[in-house]
Amino acid sequence: MQRESRNDCINTNRIPDPHGGSLVDLVIETKKLPDDMFFVDINDNLRNDVENIGYGIFSPLNGFVGKEDFESILNVGRLKNGLPWTIPIVLDVDKSTAIKCKEYGEISLRNNNEHFAFLFFDDHYQYDKVHLARSQYLTTDEKHPGVSKTFKLKDTLVSGKIQVCKKRLQSKLEGYRLHPSITRKEIQNRKWNTVVGFQTRNIPHIAHEMLQKAALNIYDGLFINPLIGKKKKGDFKDQVILESYMKLIENYFPMDKVMFVTLHTEMRYAGPKEAIHHAIMRKNFGCSHFIVGRDHAGVGDYYHPFAAHKIFNEFPDLGIQPIFFPTFYYCKKCLGYANERTCPHGADYREELSGTRMRKMVTEGELPGKHLLRPEVAEVITKFQDPFVI
Ligand code: ADX
Repeated sequence: MQRESRNDCINTNRIPDPHGGSLVDLVIETKKLPDDMFFVDINDNLRNDVENIGYGIFSPLNGFVGKEDFESILNVGRLKNGLPWTIPIVLDVDKSTAIKCKEYGEISLRNNNEHFAFLFFDDHYQYDKVHLARSQYLTTDEKHPGVSKTFKLKDTLVSGKIQVCKKRLQSKLEGYRLHPSITRKEIQNRKWNTVVGFQTRNIPHIAHEMLQKAALNIYDGLFINPLIGKKKKGDFKDQVILESYMKLIENYFPMDKVMFVTLHTEMRYAGPKEAIHHAIMRKNFGCSHFIVGRDHAGVGDYYHPFAAHKIFNEFPDLGIQPIFFPTFYYCKKCLGYANERTCPHGADYREELSGTRMRKMVTEGELPGKHLLRPEVAEVITKFQDPFVI
């Protein structure tokens, strides 16, 4: 009797509530549009994010953010109500489109000529791109992929609530795309009290697997959640990532301990700010913990390898527990994966492992050894004539 009530307590306490308290659900049945409805065409990346709002992955956002939220996100990494939020989700348009949006009020959002969502106009406003770049990417260097994208945005932002139309599966890549309401139910069905989320934009190398398994030693379930969407030139293609994970999980993981779900949003390479955003999305999916390793969401040398650890100090109220890992490397003396906390051997014995190194080796035709990459994963990569984003 006593044990039961203790478990109840763990059950209700450990899987966090959605960010902001409740899961946003703005999915509606598709309806016929009036012939004269004003529309804005948006690209695939933004469509994904509109859908992420509608599905509750960006809870508590219910649309494109207004000026006050926008300024607050940039200045303090929080919405104006104080809730942690580090990446502004915005719709950029030119001034004349913004005026039209205001005039019509209810706008159809289209992507590749298909109506897929409604926007209910709230406001339009100007913004400072340099401030946006500096706040989000901590640099204004145009060589940074996020900064160069920011400088190409249109000059006016439109805010307002959205509704997303229910949709049919559009591509094979969407087969593992689930709403948080579903992942939360599945976590409940599996009776997991603790679930650790893993973000990735790469094919799985063995250092990734070691982080995942180290966490699985402690927590009930592992939520592997690769990012599918726009990535920079030279990153692995989505299909390669998906197929490699299928092989990895099938061959090296206990199936009942792992959930594999894809996250459809673009990679922003915003380092620490994106790490917080990544954690919030996984909280909405139902994760209680979130892995943050070396150079999380980094690119080039823009961020200190552990900047994405440090930023969590500013958000003790995040509602999901980060799990920090140091750099994992293969140690030729330990004959296994190690890190500076567990291994006394010097740099001479180390083989460093990163997505960048994997990509370099594959590009140069040198297939990484079994101690770096599972042969089943290597086989998937070699099957693709061009495994990289061009
Ligand atoms: S990321 O851009 O999505 O962060 P990647 O897919 O390579 O890149 O990393 C996924 C997660 O594994 C991140 O938390 C990252 O910090 C961590 N990670 C990747 N390689 C290592 C490593 N060798 N040691 C420690 N952590 C790592």
